Amino acid sequence: MFNNLTRYLKKPQLYAQSTGIFWDDEHISKGLLEAHLNPEWDAATRKLDFVDKSVSWIAAIAPPAQFKNLLDLGCGPGIYAERFHKAGYSVTGIDFSKRSIDYAKKQSLRSKINIEYHYMNYLKIDYKERFDVITLIYCDYGALSITDRITLLKKVYEALKLGGKFIFDVFTPVKRNDESRSWHYFDNGGFWSEKPHICLESVYQYDDEDETELRQTIVITEDTVNCYNIWDHFFTTEKLVSEIKPAGFGSYELYGDVAGKEYSDTGETICIVLTK
Ligand SMILES: C[S@@+](CC[C@H](N)C(=O)[O-])C[C@H]1O[C@@H](n2cnc3c(N)ncnc32)[C@H](O)[C@@H]1O
Repeated sequence: MFNNLTRYLKKPQLYAQSTGIFWDDEHISKGLLEAHLNPEWDAATRKLDFVDKSVSWIAAIAPPAQFKNLLDLGCGPGIYAERFHKAGYSVTGIDFSKRSIDYAKKQSLRSKINIEYHYMNYLKIDYKERFDVITLIYCDYGALSITDRITLLKKVYEALKLGGKFIFDVFTPVKRNDESRSWHYFDNGGFWSEKPHICLESVYQYDDEDETELRQTIVITEDTVNCYNIWDHFFTTEKLVSEIKPAGFGSYELYGDVAGKEYSDTGETICIVLTK
């Protein structure tokens, strides 16, 4: 146990893998679903008044009458997808959390609404000119490495019809964390494990070109040590625009958030609307 633990205590190599899965883990995904569904929390889905504002804004800049087919990447349990459906879109949602997709499917059956949900990795989509709008909401873009971001932009471009829009948000450097270390003890189990566990938490900054940040949690139970590495990237408008330019979109607009707030250089997020 001691040796197993000490090897995790130094700064990991860039993009070192977690020892366990995060979004789709049997236990962790329960806590994540709870976080999505709790209207008081901003953790996995933003609060519902923001979600409603966001859907209204998207329906105003890409009205469902002209932009009918919408693909929501990383749709989670379908909180946006259901509202997009109500706003008049024909909605497809993709997520690689089985628990979230199962919940979303049950909800749409219960409400007798027709939303197409797929349990899959959105980096593997293979649509050709099928959608009018594609969304990726709550700053998931920045969690991807530059290689995966380029792959995603290419796949989204191919999946959009001419004139279609890709709408996503990113965190700005205001949200970057200082390097730190802390620990917490959960004697009754908690988010990371149902067993009593200790979490050793670290934030590391990397001086690679992409200025990568790692939030690492080492989860120690009586008989296991697991390490979860969550990578993140932060964007100025310059960085974002230079990154999307080669993807071939015809034009772009910048906002302060995915509900259409005016962009400010002191804000925590940027939303970009790319038009093919
Ligand atoms: C921060 S949550 C946001 C969920 C939703 N967009 C919202 O705002 O309510 C990120 C979601 O993306 C999903 N996700 C992350 N990476 C993914 C990938 N490569 N393919 C499919 N889903 C992914 C996660 O399972 C999770 O449900």
